[in-house]
Amino acid sequence: MERPIEKIRGYGSAMSPQSIVIAVDGTAASGKGTLAKKLAQHFGFAHLDSGALYRLAAYSVLEAKGDPKNEADALRGAQTIDFNLAGDARIRTDFIGQAASFVAAIPAVRAALLDFQRNFLAHPPGGSPGAVMDGRDIGTVICPGATAKLYVDARPDVRARRRWTELKAMGIRRGEGDLLKELNARDAADKSRPVSPLVQAPDAALLDTSDLGIDAAFAAALALVSAKVESALKDRPRG
Ligand code: DC
Repeated sequence: MERPIEKIRGYGSAMSPQSIVIAVDGTAASGKGTLAKKLAQHFGFAHLDSGALYRLAAYSVLEAKGDPKNEADALRGAQTIDFNLAGDARIRTDFIGQAASFVAAIPAVRAALLDFQRNFLAHPPGGSPGAVMDGRDIGTVICPGATAKLYVDARPDVRARRRWTELKAMGIRRGEGDLLKELNARDAADKSRPVSPLVQAPDAALLDTSDLGIDAAFAAALALVSAKVESALKDRPRG
C-alpha cells in the first residue's frame, strides 16, 4: 500500500525556526557521511543520511521490477520506502547508488521526499536541539538557512581508492579503475541534472579531505562549523 513518507514517520509539517542545522553536502565517497555522523555525535544532534532515502526508493523500485529512470516507477518507489532497510547492507552497493542517482534526478521523487527531510530538521528526533543532514542539496534546497554548511570533496582517485578499500574489507573485489569511472559518472549526473544539482552553496565552507585521515578531517570540519553552531546553541530560546 502506498503511503506518503511523512505519514509513515509521523512528522508534522510545520517548520520550527529554532532548530540548529548543519548541512553537509558533497561528492560520492568524499567522507561526508562519516563527518556528518561525527558532527552529530559531537554536538548531541540528530543525524539523517539523505542519500539513504534515495537508495531506499531505488531499492523499492528494483524490488518491484520497475525502472529507476521511469517517473511513475520511481515515484512509487519513493512512496513505498521500507525504513526497516535503512541500515541494511543491501542498499549500500554501488549498483543501488547508481539507481539512487537515477531516481534522484526525477523531480516528483525529490518533491515526495522534501517534507520528510524538512520536518526532520525542524523537529529533530529525540528532542535534540539540532540536526546534521548529509546529501547533495541540503544547504541549497532542503535548508538554505542552515546554521552552518560544509561542502566536502576529495580527488576522484582518492575517493575511488577509499571505496576500493571499503569493499575489500567487505570481501568484495572490484577494479579501482572501474570504481573511479563509476564515481565520476555518478558525480557528473548528480552535478548536471536540472533539479537540485550537486553544487557548493555560496555560503558553504569547502573541505577537501584528499590528504586527511578521518581524525584530521573531523578536526577540520569542526573548526569550520563550531563558531556558528556554538553561537546558535548559546542564543537559542529556552523553555
Ligand atoms: O550519498 P549517496 O551515495 O548515498 O547518494 C546516493 C545517490 O542519491 C546520489 O548519487 C545522488 C542521490 N542523492 C541526491 O540526489 N540528493 C541527496 N540529498 C542525497 C543523495
